[in-house]
Amino acid sequence: MMQGKKILLGITGSIAAYKAAYLVRMLKKEGADVKVIMTPAAKDFVSPLTLSTLSQHPVLTHLFDEQSWSNHVMLGRWADVMLLAPLSCNTLAKMANGQCDNLLLAVYLSATCPVVVAPAMDEDMWQHPATQENIQKIKANGNQVIPVEKGELASGLIGEGRMAEPEEIVRYLQEHFFLTQPLHGKKALVTAGPTYEPIDPVRFIGNRSSGKMGWAIANELKKRGAAVTLILGPSHLNIEPNGILVEKVNTADEMYRAALQNFATADIAIMAAAVADYTPEHPENEKIKKNYSTLQIQLTKTKDILKSLGQQKTKQQVLVGFALETNDEEKFAKQKLIEKNADLIVLNSLKDEGAGFGVDTNKITIFEKNGQVFRFDQQPKNIVAKDIIDTLIKLYYD
Ligand code: CTP
Repeated sequence: MMQGKKILLGITGSIAAYKAAYLVRMLKKEGADVKVIMTPAAKDFVSPLTLSTLSQHPVLTHLFDEQSWSNHVMLGRWADVMLLAPLSCNTLAKMANGQCDNLLLAVYLSATCPVVVAPAMDEDMWQHPATQENIQKIKANGNQVIPVEKGELASGLIGEGRMAEPEEIVRYLQEHFFLTQPLHGKKALVTAGPTYEPIDPVRFIGNRSSGKMGWAIANELKKRGAAVTLILGPSHLNIEPNGILVEKVNTADEMYRAALQNFATADIAIMAAAVADYTPEHPENEKIKKNYSTLQIQLTKTKDILKSLGQQKTKQQVLVGFALETNDEEKFAKQKLIEKNADLIVLNSLKDEGAGFGVDTNKITIFEKNGQVFRFDQQPKNIVAKDIIDTLIKLYYD
């Protein structure tokens, strides 16, 4: 997917530099043309010979030597993307302050291409206000920062500051620079999270849905170019909308009305919410007191949002539902596909460890209305979202 793309990889002095060799190999495998620049300190951590062999280009380290002068301006113009990985605390500070005492910094300052950095340092250094200030400064200058990961650090401590894994860096580059946008111009509607059905002013009937799956789907649709509206139940997710229109609702009825209102103009609707099937018939206006030894709450059925949209669906619209089952999974998923007039049903079984509510992973099978079945392994929810949207694009927008 990176065929012919030109990537300038800057490596700085950090233990994580050993991963740069693997990163170069992965980028080359994707078809990219990779040139490597190293700071003098980086050479203490990984050998230029390894990197020149893997990249099939000489590694550049100095502005000039006795024989030649490295044209830093042309390097920055040659690249489609400049990637600094790992980015040390020291080079970060120099970037933030416009310093230029080596080839890498000279290329950075004269680069006309987008610049992406993958920081790597110990947790305390990472969290120091000066480092965080420098990160904000380079972001304000238009650079993109690939988030650091949590895990074992060079110091032996466990914490934040690890460089993102090479796989994650490659994925980031693909998504942000090299992914085509097959859903450009399309409108997508997503429901996510639980609903809370009030019993009285302080109590409700809810469920364990976190909203993570729907949020990941909304993000994936956005990355593929769609204009996304997310109707989100009362989730505790800490979200940064990032161009996604988020409508917050509480009850199944509010979600129903918001979904219906948005559906007419949507090309794609994905119902990932765990909507309450029943709601108290007469929620109390005042707090219920414990005056009785038993208490009965009469429940009434909520409206099935997916089914209602299925009844209104036009031939141009693609409707996707979920099925969360504990038994007879395939039978129930296929039943929902027909009953709700959906185009696709994404099945997750609570029998599968690492699938369903609250966890960061999911294991899905997608059933298509004409009988096609797509099975996937257990994956983090953002990868699952990618699988769902890839399948949808392949079936309806390729
Ligand atoms: N759904 C909906 N509105 C409801 C209930 C469910 O839109 N009132 C949607 C969910 O968002 C999901 C699909 O219907 O996409 C299936 O939800 P699920 O809870 O698995 O099944 P139900 O239809 O509620 O049926 P049951 O609980 O009997 O399995």
